[in-house]
Amino acid sequence: MEKKRGSFTDKLGFVLAAAGSAVGLGNLWRFPYLAAKHGGGIFLLIYLILAVTFGFALMVTEIALGRKTRLSAVGAYPALDKRFKFLGYLSSVIPFLITPYYCVIGGWVLKYLVVFLTGQVSSAAADEFFTGYIAQPAAPVIFFVIYVTVGMVAVLLGVEGGIEKASKFMMPVLVVMTVFISVFSLMQPGAMEGLRYYLLPDFSRFSATTVMAAMGQLFYSMSLAMGIMITYGSYMKKETNLEKSVRQIEIFDTGIAFMAGLMIIPAVFAFSGGSEEALGKGPSLMFITLPKVFDNMKFGTLVGAVFFLLVLFAALTSSISLTETLVSIVVDKFKFSRKKACGVVYAWLLALGIPVSLGFGIWSFIKPLGMSLLDFFDFTSNSVLMPIAAIGTCIFVGFVIKPKTLIEEVEVNGRFKMKKFYSIMIKYIAPVCLVAILIFAVMEALGMITV
Ligand code: PHE
Repeated sequence: MEKKRGSFTDKLGFVLAAAGSAVGLGNLWRFPYLAAKHGGGIFLLIYLILAVTFGFALMVTEIALGRKTRLSAVGAYPALDKRFKFLGYLSSVIPFLITPYYCVIGGWVLKYLVVFLTGQVSSAAADEFFTGYIAQPAAPVIFFVIYVTVGMVAVLLGVEGGIEKASKFMMPVLVVMTVFISVFSLMQPGAMEGLRYYLLPDFSRFSATTVMAAMGQLFYSMSLAMGIMITYGSYMKKETNLEKSVRQIEIFDTGIAFMAGLMIIPAVFAFSGGSEEALGKGPSLMFITLPKVFDNMKFGTLVGAVFFLLVLFAALTSSISLTETLVSIVVDKFKFSRKKACGVVYAWLLALGIPVSLGFGIWSFIKPLGMSLLDFFDFTSNSVLMPIAAIGTCIFVGFVIKPKTLIEEVEVNGRFKMKKFYSIMIKYIAPVCLVAILIFAVMEALGMITV
C-alpha cells in the first residue's frame, strides 16, 4: 500500500513549491488590511520581528519534523512519541476551517477579474460596489462554487502540477506588477502620508491585539501550525540545506506581503483619506481600494484585469495545496478512495463556504461572538487553534523529543548556524509568548477586555 515518497528534484524546486503554497491571499489580501487596521508601521515592525524569530523557529521545526519522519502531520508526531498523536489531528483540523472561506475570497477575486475583463472599472471603483456585491444572495455564491470546482477538478485530475508550473511563471510577473502598481499608488496626491503611516511605527498604537493579529497573520501567511510544512518537509531531500531554504521562503513570503501593503495602504490615503474608517475596512479593503487605483490609471482596465488574473493564480495554487491536504487527510484517516475523498471534501467546502458567503447578506444575522461568519472562522483558526497547535509543537520539541533531535536533522548537511537561538526560542520564548497571546485573544473575543 505504501507509495514510494517522491522528492523535490532540484534544490530550488523545494523552495518554489513551498513558496507557491505560502504566497497567496494571505500576502495580497490579508496582510494589507491587517496592517492598515492595526496602526500601519507598528504592525509591520511587529510582524517582521515575529517572522525572523517565531516564524523562523516554527518553520524549521515543521520542515525538519517532516523530513526526519518522512510522514505528514498525522503520522509524524506519533512516530516520535505516541502521546502526541492528538497534535497531528489538531493541526489537521485547521485547514478544514480555513479552506472554505479561503475559497469564498477566491470567488471574489474571480468576480473582480470578470468585472475588469468586461470593462466595468469605474463602477467597481464606486464606494458601495463591493459591499453591495457581497451582500447579494446568488452571484457571490455562484462565483465561489465555480472557484471551488476549478480547484477540485485540478486535484481530481492531478493537474495541480500544471497549475503550479504556470504559477512559477506568473509569480515573478506578479512581483513586477506589484512594484509597478505601488509606484503608481505612491505618485498619487496624499499617498506620502500613507507611506509614512505604513513605514513609521507609532509606538502609542502598540497593543496586545496588534501582536496577536501579527502572530495570526504569520501562521496564516507562512502556512504554519496546520501540518502543511510538515508534509512539504516529508518530500524534501536530505541534501537540501534546510536552514537556507527556510530563510528563502521567509524572505519571499514577507517580501510579497510588504509590497502588497505598499500598493494598497498609500492608496487608501490617496483615494479615501486616511480616516480610521477607511483604514479599518477589514476583509474588503483590497477590493475597495485597488479598483480606485486602476480607475485612475491609463489602461487601468487592462492593468486591473492582468492583476486580478495573477492574484487568482496565487490564490489557486494556495487553495489547491489546501484542498490536496484535505483530500489526503480523508484518504489516510477513512481509507476512502481518492475519488470518494474528493467528493467528501467538495461537499464540506460547499457546506461551510456557502454560509460564509451568505453571511455578508441574507444571513448576516448569524453573528457568533459578534463576528461575521468569515471573521469567526478566521478568528477560530488563526487566533485560537493555530496558537494551541504551535504551543503543543513547542512543548513536544522543547521537552519531549528535545531540540537536539531536530537540530541533528537540520545538520544532516552543514552547520545549523542559529541552533542556540533556535533551542531557546522553541523551549522558552515561543511557548510563553504564545500562551500570553492566546489568553489575550480569547479574553478579547469574549469581551472581557477591550484593547
Ligand atoms: N499561506 C497561504 C496564503 O498566504 C495560505 C495557505 C495556508 C495556503 C495553508 C496553503 C496552506 O495565502
